[in-house]
Amino acid sequence: MSADNDTGLPVSRHRMHDGTPFEIHPCIDGAHPFTRAQWRAELQRGMRRLSPRSRWQRFASGIHELSEQQLDALTDVDGLQRVALCAVIPRHEGYEGIGIARYVVLTDEQQRIAEFALTVIDRWQAQGVGAALLQRLSSVARDNGIEMLRGFVFASNAAMLALCRRHNAAITAVDGVLQADLVLRGAEPTPVVDGSVRRAHGRNRS
Ligand SMILES: CC(C)(COP(=O)(O)OP(=O)(O)OC[C@H]1O[C@@H](n2cnc3c(N)ncnc32)[C@H](O)[C@@H]1OP(=O)(O)O)[C@@H](O)C(=O)NCCC(=O)NCCS
Repeated sequence: MSADNDTGLPVSRHRMHDGTPFEIHPCIDGAHPFTRAQWRAELQRGMRRLSPRSRWQRFASGIHELSEQQLDALTDVDGLQRVALCAVIPRHEGYEGIGIARYVVLTDEQQRIAEFALTVIDRWQAQGVGAALLQRLSSVARDNGIEMLRGFVFASNAAMLALCRRHNAAITAVDGVLQADLVLRGAEPTPVVDGSVRRAHGRNRS
C-alpha cells in the first residue's frame, strides 16, 4: 500500500516482521515528515541511539556525534543525484525516525554509479526495515537512471551482506572491505514480502 505525502512525493507503507507499521518517506527539504532542520536533529538523535557496533559498521569510525559538516552533507539532497529516504514510525505526536537509506551519484559518465548506505537503529534491526529501505532506494535509483548502486561493507556485517546478496550484488574485496555492486538494469531484486507497491511511477524525476 502506498500514499503520497504533502508534496506529492511517493510514500510507502510497510509492516515489520512483528507487525509494527512503518513508512518510508523521501527526505526533501520542506517535505513531510521532517523539515531540514528537524531532519538534522533527528539524525543526531538517531546517531545517539545507534550502538557502537552499528556506528562502526556505517561510518568505519568510533564517532558518537555527527559534525555540522557531516549533517550538511547528509541532508544535502536533490531527489535525483543525492537521494535520501527515511523510515519512520507514525506516532500520535509526529514521526519517530528509525532508519535511513541514501545514495550519492559518483559519476555520470557511461555507467551511472551511485554510492549507497543504509542505517537502521538497533532497536528496530532484524525486522525487515533495512530490506524495505534498500528495495525502495533501488527503485528510486532505477527511476532516476542510476545503473549501479555501490556499497562498502565489512566482511563481518552479515545482515548487510545478506541484503546485498538478495539484490544479486557482485561482491569483491577492495582495500580490506567488501565492495557490493548492485546492478539495477536488467537485474530485478527479489521482492520484499509485504513491501511497497508504487502508485506514482517516476515522480521523483520532477
Ligand atoms: C545492515 C542493516 C541496515 C540491515 O537492516 P535490518 O533492518 O537490520 O535488516 P533486515 O531485517 O531487513 O534483514 C536483512 C537481511 O539480513 C538478515 N539479518 C538481519 N539481522 C541479521 C543478523 N544480526 N545477522 C545475520 N543476518 C541478519 C536478515 O535475515 C535478512 O536476510 P534475508 O534477506 O536473507 O532474509 C542494519 O543492520 C544496520 O543499520 N546496521 C548498522 C549500519 C550498517 O551496517 N550499515 C551498512 C553499511 S552501508
